[in-house]
Amino acid sequence: MNYSFDEVKKQWINKLNNMAQGDTFNLYIDNPFCVHKCEYCVYTPYVTKVNSPIFKKYYSDFMPRELEKYKDIIGMRVPDSVYFGGGTAGLVDCKQMKKIFEQIPNFKNIKCKIYENHPNFLTKEKVDLMIEYGFKYISIGIQTFNEEILRKQNRMVPEYTELRELIKHAQDNGIVVNCDILPFIEDGNMKGLKQFEEDIKKMEELLSPDSITIYPKYQELMEPIDSEYDQSKATEIDEKNYDLIVNLRRSLKKISRRSKLYSISHENLVNLEREKIMECVRGNYYLIKIDKEKFEESKVYFSSSIPRQPATQNTLAIGGLLERKTYSYHGKGFCYYNNVDENFNIEYECGGN
Ligand SMILES: C[S@@+](CC[C@H](N)C(=O)[O-])C[C@H]1O[C@@H](n2cnc3c(N)ncnc32)[C@H](O)[C@@H]1O
Ligand code: SF4
Repeated sequence: MNYSFDEVKKQWINKLNNMAQGDTFNLYIDNPFCVHKCEYCVYTPYVTKVNSPIFKKYYSDFMPRELEKYKDIIGMRVPDSVYFGGGTAGLVDCKQMKKIFEQIPNFKNIKCKIYENHPNFLTKEKVDLMIEYGFKYISIGIQTFNEEILRKQNRMVPEYTELRELIKHAQDNGIVVNCDILPFIEDGNMKGLKQFEEDIKKMEELLSPDSITIYPKYQELMEPIDSEYDQSKATEIDEKNYDLIVNLRRSLKKISRRSKLYSISHENLVNLEREKIMECVRGNYYLIKIDKEKFEESKVYFSSSIPRQPATQNTLAIGGLLERKTYSYHGKGFCYYNNVDENFNIEYECGGN
């Protein structure tokens, strides 16, 4: 089933006029492009060069038109957060970033602004722009420090000394900096765990971000990755990954005991009792060196996947391209995907609620 834009707009106006206490309104701005496709990645980026014709058209024509269409809706209430994700949001240059920021109503008043970055494309100019616009949180995909694995996974090796300086500059100006690590990027076994422990050590020594998000590689936890996730079979699927999760959690506890800087943000997430493990097999884990309250504040928006969107979170997603369908929702109610073709024609497809 498809919706018309008028229907989508009517739904949002109705929702924003009738928000319950505690409800949040979040914007998600999609950046569908990557300059390479990493082997492990489950997202569906459009691979192209920076400033290729399609890249330019997306930022100079399509995105401004989309923002204009949603201007009245966004202007109804200052969003609680705005999240620039992808793909690789970090490919966008300062001029293009600024143009988007300026087009979003009340942008400077949005308390929680988050930008996803790629370590090879972050520059001092971009950090300065995020400081100027009051960003609260930036996230950088590191995945692993093992150069051989990075190359095998079709990923560029970053220059860590320069990156540390940029991270420090952001931190000195009040931005919470997160880095992502991807355990089991190659091996879903003890070899992968050893690499994970080495990666956390290197992260402490070389980059020292405020938080480290640990995303166990989804393909190792879900089988088969390309079939629909069937809730009724969850336990059966999860059983296969039991040992993997137990050992990852043990590693996290060990790291947290050893580390002088980092501790686990939510102890309950690394609980080792069998029942508790089965409750949350697919969770991410966070190691933090800032206090928990500051960490929580910087993460108002939690990206989530259908059908697990939080009931009080309403997310308006703008953008997407071909395989990259971004989705918007009102809590557990109205939900739709942006279906964008290569000519940037857009349809709003029912999200399955
Ligand atoms: C949307 S990606 C954007 C990051 C950015 N493009 C980069 O590569 O630096 C956000 C994070 O998802 C995680 N991710 C990617 N593929 C994954 C997979 N197969 N399983 C679990 N997490 C994954 C990575 O840690 C990545 O940093
Ligand atoms: S990990 Fe990041 S850079 Fe690599 S393909 Fe996925 S989104 Fe693109």
